[in-house]
Amino acid sequence: MKVLVIGPGGREHALVRALLADPFVREVHSAPGNAGIAAMVATHDVDVDDPAVVTALAQRLRSDLVVIGPEAPLAAGVADALRDAGIPVFGPSRAAAQLEASKAFAKQIMASAGVPTAMAVVATTTGQAEEALRTFGAPYVVKDDGLAAGKGVVVTGDHAEALAHAEACFAVGGSVVIEEYLDGPEVSLFVLSDGRNVLPLAPAQDFKRIRDDDTGPNTGGMGAYSPLDWAPAGLVDQVIERVAQPVIDEMAHRGTPFTGVLYCGLALTSRGMRVIEFNARFGDPETQAVLARLRTPLGGVLLAAAQGGLDRIEPLTWSRRSAVAVVLASENYPSTPVTGGRIRGLGKAERTEDVQVFHAGTALVDGKVVSSGGRVLAVVGLGEDLGAARGKAYEGMSLIGLNGGQFRTDIALKASRGEIGVAGGPSAPVAASPTSPASRGADA
Ligand code: AMP
Ligand code: GLY
Repeated sequence: MKVLVIGPGGREHALVRALLADPFVREVHSAPGNAGIAAMVATHDVDVDDPAVVTALAQRLRSDLVVIGPEAPLAAGVADALRDAGIPVFGPSRAAAQLEASKAFAKQIMASAGVPTAMAVVATTTGQAEEALRTFGAPYVVKDDGLAAGKGVVVTGDHAEALAHAEACFAVGGSVVIEEYLDGPEVSLFVLSDGRNVLPLAPAQDFKRIRDDDTGPNTGGMGAYSPLDWAPAGLVDQVIERVAQPVIDEMAHRGTPFTGVLYCGLALTSRGMRVIEFNARFGDPETQAVLARLRTPLGGVLLAAAQGGLDRIEPLTWSRRSAVAVVLASENYPSTPVTGGRIRGLGKAERTEDVQVFHAGTALVDGKVVSSGGRVLAVVGLGEDLGAARGKAYEGMSLIGLNGGQFRTDIALKASRGEIGVAGGPSAPVAASPTSPASRGADA
């Protein structure tokens, strides 16, 4: 099988690596890729947000499967164009990708499907925003109702800051979703779907804030780990039964079936599980940590999802080891990242046992790898437990140099010390039927 992977980031680097490990995958191509991906497979520097361009490339390469990584090509209708051309594609249509592209749409779907989420209102004027902030009270949660790569959300105790974010969105003609604050640890669960059937991956946890102890502004994600030893038993079953399957059914019922990966961003609150957000794609950097543990060859699974045959796929199998991903970001990320800095020590880090390096914002200039984006790369460490995996990730990171580079030092720290508590933790299973087909292949 020949696979074309669309996207420039660390998630796509991880997808390429996992696909290359599949014995049935003969060839992998990437567009546009980055310096790390280019060291593994052929890359094609084309506009991946242009449906006609991507379709022409897939036809020229005779791709048997196209895997779309980021949200922008999905929102631009790249998957629709490929499907119209008869090319199997892993990634939802533009209509189905609205689950991510519009937070207001996602709320409507959840309401129709009876999925638990934060109470929310859509505001388009300052008056409406002020009223909603008053209704929900502090801490305030204000979300840009559009694609913002995880950075359009302000969570703050400061009323003026919350209102200022809403007004900034209104100023460019946008609207905001204002919602109740959800307490409790967050979980990212990726659920594959062929439009009808669902198949969960292993859950992960992401670190959204730029600095240690969850301080500073929100980012696209500064680190991740898997598995979640602290998660309630039956968590994955519960997410499938109460969230993923109802949403997939609702999308099919509306005539816009969702084919690809439904990223369920969840909060395990003191009042139960709630959906924070959906994405229509794999998470970054969770994918780097999760796929490092996947044993089942990935290509056949993604092809089955693309072709409507996920029910024929055996349960996914996972390494018992833990994986921790730590992101290296540029100076001044997330506001105005400084790029063009030389990155040193990559070879040494990559040659370290149980260390993997995934490029995100990197480019080759005169044969040297330089930073070209806000999030530059992720180092994944593997180990017998989270503590050991953390050790390997930070050992790898210590070998890499980038002037002004920033990374968090506390990725998976609390989990490795058993300091994350949640109602119904591992010793107290949440209600879920252990025989449910949804439990296939999931771990917690
Ligand atoms: P989103 O883009 O909706 O995932 O939001 C980004 C991040 O903001 C989430 O991962 C949470 O850390 C935080 N967040 C979003 N919505 C809420 C909420 N209702 N309550 C608490 N934190 C939230
Ligand atoms: N890591 C969060 C995301 O991919 O949206």
